Amino acid sequence: MAMNVFKELDQIQNEFQKELEAASGLEQLDQLKIKYMGRSGSVTNLLRKISSVQKEDRPRFGAEANKLKSEISDLISKKLNLFQDGSSSRAVDYLDVTLPGRLPIMGTLHPTTQIVREICDIFVSLGFSVIEGPEIELDKYNFEMLNIPKGHPARDMWSTMWIENPNQTDANSTLLRTHTSPMQARFMESTSPPVRIVVPGKCYRYEATDSTHEWHFYQIEGLVVDKGINFSNLKGTLYEFAKRVFGNDRKVRFRCDYFPFVEPGVDMSISNFKDSEGKRPIKGRDEDWIEILGAGMVHPEVLKGVGYDPDIYTGFAFGMGPERISMLRNGIDDIRHFYSNDLRFLGQFV
Ligand code: FA5
Repeated sequence: MAMNVFKELDQIQNEFQKELEAASGLEQLDQLKIKYMGRSGSVTNLLRKISSVQKEDRPRFGAEANKLKSEISDLISKKLNLFQDGSSSRAVDYLDVTLPGRLPIMGTLHPTTQIVREICDIFVSLGFSVIEGPEIELDKYNFEMLNIPKGHPARDMWSTMWIENPNQTDANSTLLRTHTSPMQARFMESTSPPVRIVVPGKCYRYEATDSTHEWHFYQIEGLVVDKGINFSNLKGTLYEFAKRVFGNDRKVRFRCDYFPFVEPGVDMSISNFKDSEGKRPIKGRDEDWIEILGAGMVHPEVLKGVGYDPDIYTGFAFGMGPERISMLRNGIDDIRHFYSNDLRFLGQFV
């Protein structure tokens, strides 16, 4: 009998050590306490056997069993304290510092931000400054000072979202800007020439969406005004821009276009030709040319309106769609991907 109880003591001790190590929560510790120290726990039951232990072995057995009992109780309380210290139920000293760390999920700039910054950087390197303006705009700047008075049919070119306010009428009516061109008037009104700026920003139009039209999208406006600025300067600047964004292989095309605030006006398109396998850079667009911007020589009426003398100063302006430029560069088939927040799309721009 003596041998058996001492063996049992060893077994209980070993078993307890293993179970204590494996315990990873408060609940498991409670269960351990009951299993070993409870009324019918293994240590308690073993102590009850003392009467059957031979007389000469009793003192040793009693001492060892009581030692085990207090050891178990101490170890459980120690681990319990560790769990209760931390906010989680896992013990901090059980952290294996040799395990490889988990990589944090890194955010990335939105594809529109990426292309807007890239385009602005190109113009900065050509000597332009970057400025920004309000998204809630006055009729005065969005239309009137751009040679588009009230009732002018050209207002229909920009399907407008008006902000309802019965106290504001005519030139002071507010709207969500339909293009970044209002910043032409705002900037010139408060600055003397020479002017050389680009204006990135969000625009809004009351339009049905399709693969190349969003109801909110970005534009980047450009404006250069000085003595002796001519159409060759406009073409030279935009060719240089296109070459830097698209490389030498894509072609650029200018066509006549109409915008009331420029004369003459043009639009500029980028080639979307089929490659040797019959594939186009933009999937789903079966066109050889895709328009990316409108441009032209600043209309003398606009210069007059901001107090510049059109007999002394001339200038050119342009307004481009960065999402459409990103689509052409990256083979994106639908502009609506940009604002649908689908991580499968956004993840491609890491
Ligand atoms: C304008 O908005 C003129 N303000 C541009 C301009 C500026 C002309 C200065 C002359 C001088 P337009 O509506 O064509 O023009 O828009 C310019 C560019 O914005 C388009 O070429 C296109 O790239 C982009 N864009 C226009 N509408 C949308 C839309 N709904 N969704 C996405 N991009 C658009």
